[in-house]
Amino acid sequence: MKPRNHSIEVSATYEDLSERAAAAIFEVMRSAPRGLYCLAAGDTPRRAYRLLARRVLDEGLNVSEMRFVGLDEWIGLDGHDRGSCRALLNELLFGPLGIRMDRIAFFDAKSADLPGECRKIDEWIADWGPIDLVVLGIGMNGHLGFNEPGTRAETLSHAMDLEEVTQSVGTKYFDSGTAPAGGLTIGLGQIMGAKRALLMASGEGKAGIVRRAFSSDSFPEIPASILLRHPRFSLLLDAAAATGV
Ligand code: GLP
Repeated sequence: MKPRNHSIEVSATYEDLSERAAAAIFEVMRSAPRGLYCLAAGDTPRRAYRLLARRVLDEGLNVSEMRFVGLDEWIGLDGHDRGSCRALLNELLFGPLGIRMDRIAFFDAKSADLPGECRKIDEWIADWGPIDLVVLGIGMNGHLGFNEPGTRAETLSHAMDLEEVTQSVGTKYFDSGTAPAGGLTIGLGQIMGAKRALLMASGEGKAGIVRRAFSSDSFPEIPASILLRHPRFSLLLDAAAATGV
């Protein structure tokens, strides 16, 4: 992977990766204080978000004019549910940074009207986009958000049935030991429309899918591979996740 405006940074440890990611997000936020930001949940960016929140507060960066859009959510959950994507972002960023509710658009995946939730997110991105920075993780099957293998490149927000591997890996977020069978996600078209995309991956468990996604274009079997076509893409790995790239 070496096109112009693409970078791969390999950090020695998860802590180093988190520091680099936090610094990269902070720099974009400093340069686009009225920007629209789309930030993945998941375990990978947890430490980066804590470091980012601390830095924003320490340096007094004004985040009050930024807007945020949720990347994805488990169907049946909202921000009150432990393990939901919204709950993680509330805990690590929206709460600590005091982001006003009217600056955030997030899927309410408990709604009886899921198509309406997708329209809400599409309208928010149309009104306030393009997204200045999308921060992504990668699923074990290469998904981005909940864009599972086979998703078309031009998709907007939509519901997806989740593959078995996504459900079984997803149980780690929930005390119940089960994960929902569906997800709402912004589409690959909206991810690719972001001005910048940053993907973080950590740990040896991700090394195989990282190699398959980024050593050559394997889209649409590996959704994350589409980022090789993005005009401005940064891949941030720790050494354990980088063994095959
Ligand atoms: C989850 C989420 C993604 C996340 C990815 C990786 O299922 N839908 O948004 O980026 O899979 O998660 P983790 O960082 O916990 O490995």
